[in-house]
Amino acid sequence: MTKIAPSILAADFSALGKEVQRLEKAGAELVHIDVMDGNFVPPITIGAQMVKALRPFSKAFFDVHLMVTLPQRQLESMIAAGADGVTIHLESQGDTAAMLRDIRRLGAQPAVCINPDTPVETLFPYLDQVDMVLMMSVFPGYGGQKYIPESTARIAEVCREIERRGLKAAVEVDGGINESTAAQARDAGATILVAGSYLFNAPDMAEAVCRLRG
Ligand code: DX5
Ligand code: ZN
Repeated sequence: MTKIAPSILAADFSALGKEVQRLEKAGAELVHIDVMDGNFVPPITIGAQMVKALRPFSKAFFDVHLMVTLPQRQLESMIAAGADGVTIHLESQGDTAAMLRDIRRLGAQPAVCINPDTPVETLFPYLDQVDMVLMMSVFPGYGGQKYIPESTARIAEVCREIERRGLKAAVEVDGGINESTAAQARDAGATILVAGSYLFNAPDMAEAVCRLRG
């Protein structure tokens, strides 16, 4: 079954603890936490201290998406704070393979991510090292953007490669997910869908979560 990862970027930041409880009650399996450093992308959002503060509010999987220039600096503190999975961008600086190994050694699930204009094949050398691949379907930095239609073929391509090699990595899609783009991503083989604005603007989040599952 498709898993849903609400992005708390679209939540009420003055009440994040309650928001995290709300999304778990709505049936979401993961909490997608967008970490931005003001350098890899312009905004600054959430750090390890906030992840630690949110941890007691939820048993859901904390899916930390690092949109930072130097991910290595965040790994230890994020995992100590309660991250269950940590995603690093191939476009970040540092040794990707070494960072993925560090994430696992520190007790979390490693994941790798690419922007919409990075060739899909650049992911292939890391597929046997990760539990998840995150495909950006918008350029990172902001919630509420439109799903880039070319993303669907890219998702299908990475899913095919994972299957061809008999690997287990799950494919997650992030950006512009609503009922119709969710269907496209699912059909392409994605099994985890991130959604921010669609879920937090919905009148009934539980119902919206079900709609995204298809
Ligand atoms: C974009 C973030 C996304 C974003 C998704 O940089 O990585 O997780 O919050 O928001 P929506 O679902 O509104 O596109
Ligand atoms: Zn994200």
